[in-house]
Amino acid sequence: MKFFVDSADVAEIKSLAGTGLMDGVTTNPSLIAKSGRKISEVIAEICALTEGPVSAEVTATDLDTMLREGRYLRDIAKNVAVKVPLTEAGLRACKALSDEGTKVNVTLCFSAPQALLAAKAGAAFISPFIGRLDDIGEDGIQLIRDVVTIYRNYNFGTEVLAASIRHPVHVLQCAKIGAHVATMPPAVIKALVKHPLTDRGLDQFTADWAKTGQSIL
Ligand code: G3P
Repeated sequence: MKFFVDSADVAEIKSLAGTGLMDGVTTNPSLIAKSGRKISEVIAEICALTEGPVSAEVTATDLDTMLREGRYLRDIAKNVAVKVPLTEAGLRACKALSDEGTKVNVTLCFSAPQALLAAKAGAAFISPFIGRLDDIGEDGIQLIRDVVTIYRNYNFGTEVLAASIRHPVHVLQCAKIGAHVATMPPAVIKALVKHPLTDRGLDQFTADWAKTGQSIL
């Protein structure tokens, strides 16, 4: 399973670069706004920190402007994936940009029929939002399950990029289902490392070793 970092904070992304735990980055207009920086600058900096795809999202809602924004974002760096919303205009932009050889990530997906349309429009990635569905009492993980099943049934090349991930159990469930990618805030990646028994075991080993008076080096 690939891990993408869901953030536009360059310092946070830098802290994960080289750990082997970051295979790409996803941003969105809210994360760019939170960074307080110009989208062209922050995307260029992030693209230099990973070889993996970096999703940069258009903000227009009409097809023509989406295409112009998409081509502008695409040309920032060779590893940019253009993010478009799952609307009719977004699907048309996905088709056009994909036909030009651009990797497109279709975002704001909340249903399996939506995900089916994105695959037919040639998307490289589909981003079903788990946490936001859970927030309204729906089952976000069931959406991932349905999309993975449908994509396998028809051998679609689109990768399922599980998004709006809130905690390690979301990552575990997506991995068991076979989602291709999980994008998550840095805090969730760090939480994946943690286990109380690992900490307790390490404390015990350290205490026992200290009693020997030895040192390896
Ligand atoms: O970047 C897309 C998505 O992962 C954002 O999800 O719900 O944490 O804002 P959320």
